[in-house]
Amino acid sequence: SIIKLFVLPGDGIGPEVMAEVEKIVAWLNSEGVARFEIEKGLVGGAAFDAHGAAISEADMARAKAADAVLLAAVGGPKWDGVPYDVRPEAGLLRLRKDLALFANLRPAICYPALADASSLKREIVEGLDLMIVRELTGGVYFGEPKQIIDLGNGQKRAIDTQVYDTYEIERIGRVAFDLARKRRNKVTSSEKRNVMKSGLLWHEVISALHVREYPDVELEHQLADALGMQLVRRPKQFDVIVTDNLFGDMLSDVASMLTGSLGMLPSASLGEKDPASESRKALYEPVHGSAPDIAGKGMANPIAMIGSLAMALRYSFEMGELADRIERAISLVLEKGLRTADIAGGAKQILSTAQMGDAVLAELKAA
Ligand code: NAI
Ligand code: MG
Repeated sequence: SIIKLFVLPGDGIGPEVMAEVEKIVAWLNSEGVARFEIEKGLVGGAAFDAHGAAISEADMARAKAADAVLLAAVGGPKWDGVPYDVRPEAGLLRLRKDLALFANLRPAICYPALADASSLKREIVEGLDLMIVRELTGGVYFGEPKQIIDLGNGQKRAIDTQVYDTYEIERIGRVAFDLARKRRNKVTSSEKRNVMKSGLLWHEVISALHVREYPDVELEHQLADALGMQLVRRPKQFDVIVTDNLFGDMLSDVASMLTGSLGMLPSASLGEKDPASESRKALYEPVHGSAPDIAGKGMANPIAMIGSLAMALRYSFEMGELADRIERAISLVLEKGLRTADIAGGAKQILSTAQMGDAVLAELKAA
């Protein structure tokens, strides 16, 4: 059957790195490995220039109808002055909200060839392969009340509210346990139950879910501050980490620096499983932004974008083996000393964006 990919290249280096994914998809089609149909849309500044909106209603409808959405990056100085509700990021937020993407998956993989580019010593990160599962639609970023009150007397009071319901914790917990079963079968759940009621409920719900549905998976709990410490001390102890929106935001940024470069990091955002079709809405995107400082120069690293395609194959289409092959191809290219400028340390040869895409494709073809 035909798989519909909705592709949003966006702004800056977005179209440059997306072009390399399109090459790989074209090759997969030509090999008969799968039948992908690519539909393209506009998001971010590109959509604003064309429609005056950060994403058009027509493109939103296409995103909802697709089997998966691939997005590269949005934003740039050109749109710094546009009204708040049509700024480039609004397109991304709209997609996350309307597709109800509650689970953000951020792998941190340290390819041995890049271990010296990590913020930590080689022996601490070499071979690192962990996954942070961050709750994306709840918690303190969205809880009400959320306001700044003028108290008079020159004082103001800012209020943010952390809210989590049982069902929100259960569904993110299931994503983490399901992932762990396909990996090294271990989940570390993280909160601050010692000082937060939401942490107490998080701990209770995850523990009950574990006993009820996932007794075969190893579960441990770590307080979020202690986990932050462990991430930079002994990160290879982790397999899957599941945590709330705020802690997940911070911990995934910390984890990202263990791996070398922003240009290497893919991500996935998943919605709820449709019980009838077993499928779920999903958006795959690199962690990096539109990199205006290098846009148009053909020097962006396409690996994060290509890795995002691999995640789509693995998590939306049950094509885990193909995803493994793509990741192996990336690893082989790096081992040969082929690098883009952002990961130039130890390079034998510096490649352009297109050359890196070609190099990954060549390894894929050779495998
Ligand atoms: P950025 O991720 O675009 O760039 C940070 C630094 O990393 C830059 O020096 C850039 O050249 C480098 N870099 C990023 N991706 C790279 C790649 N694939 N290859 C080589 N080098 C790479 O973050 P920054 O500069 O804070 O933001 C630039 C624009 O991107 C802003 O408009 C921001 O709002 C937007 N942005 C968009 C995101 C998204 O679309 N999800 C995420 C983060 C920022
Ligand atoms: Mg962040």
